[in-house]
Amino acid sequence: MSEIFSKVSELKEKILSEASQIKDEVSLKAFQEKHMSKKSELSQLMGEIRNLVGEEKNDARNAVTSAFQAKQKEIQEAAIARKLEREKIDITLPSYNYKMGGINPFYLIQDEMIDIFVSMGYEVKEGPDVETDYFNFERMNIPADHPAREMQDSLYINPTTLLRTHTSPEQAHAMDEKGGKPLMMICPGKTYRRDDDDATHSHQFGQVEGLVVGKGITLANLKATLELFVRKMFGEKREVRFRGSYFPFTEPSVEVDISCMNCGGKGCSMCKGTGFIEILGAGMVHPNVLKMSGYDPEVYSGFAFGIGIERVAMLRYGIDDIRKFYQGDVRFIEQFTRK
Ligand code: FA5
Repeated sequence: MSEIFSKVSELKEKILSEASQIKDEVSLKAFQEKHMSKKSELSQLMGEIRNLVGEEKNDARNAVTSAFQAKQKEIQEAAIARKLEREKIDITLPSYNYKMGGINPFYLIQDEMIDIFVSMGYEVKEGPDVETDYFNFERMNIPADHPAREMQDSLYINPTTLLRTHTSPEQAHAMDEKGGKPLMMICPGKTYRRDDDDATHSHQFGQVEGLVVGKGITLANLKATLELFVRKMFGEKREVRFRGSYFPFTEPSVEVDISCMNCGGKGCSMCKGTGFIEILGAGMVHPNVLKMSGYDPEVYSGFAFGIGIERVAMLRYGIDDIRKFYQGDVRFIEQFTRK
């Protein structure tokens, strides 16, 4: 009896010493097959013990199993450590140098203009870029054979449809919508003309239209409104000039100029020697326009204006060529960000 126990004990020592030699998964598997199967020498000895004493003494088997498990754990951990080492990411590497985009100064200024007029109580409207001849011209008191149509060389889609040449048709849409009630609205948007491009003229440009209709509205209200706009946009120091002008849809009509950012008012090629650049047209709404829109000109009066967005942005930022707004040169655009 004691002989068999000492045999087990000897075998256990031998197996444990083999266990200590296990280095990798291959030797681990070989060990498992050799010493932990039912046919292993140890199992057979255990079987004999069970036959002799009627119960199994498990000390040797437990020792072998825990030695195996300890090695298995060690080998698995080493494998994970090797994998982590292999797949290590060096987060200190410099990333790709993605450039932050800027915002086209057209939109910076358009938003600022909207903010200024909204702060004065104006409602913001939108209108279509593709407009009917009727709204673009007739409702603006420019009938079919009127020479004023030539003032705005147009891009026609068919004989009665065109790309709007100004945002003024939105005046008629707004008045139609209000159905004879007082109103105060602005409409920012794109406009299109068959103009020859130069430093201050483009075939496509933005305008902010403005319209106020009510009882007792005067030219003094128009002047005060536009002066406030110019002061908020350009500060106190910039020179502003109101000039008498002509538009078929306003009477009287004015144009507003700001001192040239290029020469400071002395006269240069950009301002064509005048020292000023025009930013807007305006006037008191013509009685015919009020009538066509369902307002009695004996009771109601109003003023309207149309401000060129690029021109304002050019004067504000000192941009010397209107073509820069749409040429998509990142070196130009990236200089501008929202404050
Ligand atoms: C008009 O378009 C009138 N509808 C403005 C108006 C509205 C008058 C309401 C009275 C009442 P004008 O063609 O002058 O007017 O254009 C107005 C502004 O748009 C100009 O002062 C200028 O700032 C801008 N503008 C006109 N043509 C161009 C162009 N080709 N390129 C860039 N900006 C332009």
